[in-house]
Amino acid sequence: MAKPDLSVEISGIKLRNPVMTASGTFGYGKEFSDYLDLEKIGAIITKGLSLRPKAGNPTPRIVETPGGMLNAIGLQNVGIDAFIGEKLPFLRTVDTPVIVNLYGNTLEEYGELAEKLDRLPEVAGLEVNISCPNVKQGGIVFGTDPNAAAEVVGLVRRSTSKPLIIKLSPNVTDVVRMADACVSAGADALSLINTLPGWPLICRSAARFLPI
Ligand SMILES: Cc1cc2nc3c(=O)[nH]c(=O)nc-3n(C[C@H](O)[C@H](O)[C@H](O)COP(=O)(O)O)c2cc1C
Repeated sequence: MAKPDLSVEISGIKLRNPVMTASGTFGYGKEFSDYLDLEKIGAIITKGLSLRPKAGNPTPRIVETPGGMLNAIGLQNVGIDAFIGEKLPFLRTVDTPVIVNLYGNTLEEYGELAEKLDRLPEVAGLEVNISCPNVKQGGIVFGTDPNAAAEVVGLVRRSTSKPLIIKLSPNVTDVVRMADACVSAGADALSLINTLPGWPLICRSAARFLPI
């Protein structure tokens, strides 16, 4: 029997099927290559990258609760330069589109990251995590304010011609307003949703388990 055609296209990225890895749950791909054939999934979405490496929060930073798993990883990642030097060579050998997730602590950092990634032919598209605080503006999370989100999206749009996926935060009153702001500012596609905040009543170090 002929196999069904599950292929999809997201803003010009051709996927053999719609199965994509949620950023942060799949490392940089190689970590999972012993467990599944990476050429069977639609796309690899990497762990979120920042300009500089980030150690993340001290452990423990994952806890199981009766309602589900809570995490407070703290955006640990190797940084863009180590990604290019150490992780991308492996990904280059895999015939599956690579979508790079990125985040900044300031508006400018988002732009710089997008510019660096724009030069890499192996990167099929960018997924922008806007659920991060703007350290220059009192820590307000870009993705909870339509103007701040539009500013990020506009800057990243001007910094890359690659397909641009904006990952929305669920921590808003009106997600449609956020989606409209991102699309008007140049998003090609939207990714829903980032982590929901939780509060583990059973965990003594609860204060650490705020959103990643
Ligand atoms: C351990 C862990 C790390 C994550 N790291 C990132 C990240 O670096 N960037 C990002 O945009 N989302 C990150 N996420 C969010 C997931 O990609 C996903 O959006 C979130 O878990 C919601 O999907 P779910 O309800 O299926 O878990 C992370 C999630 C988990 C559980």
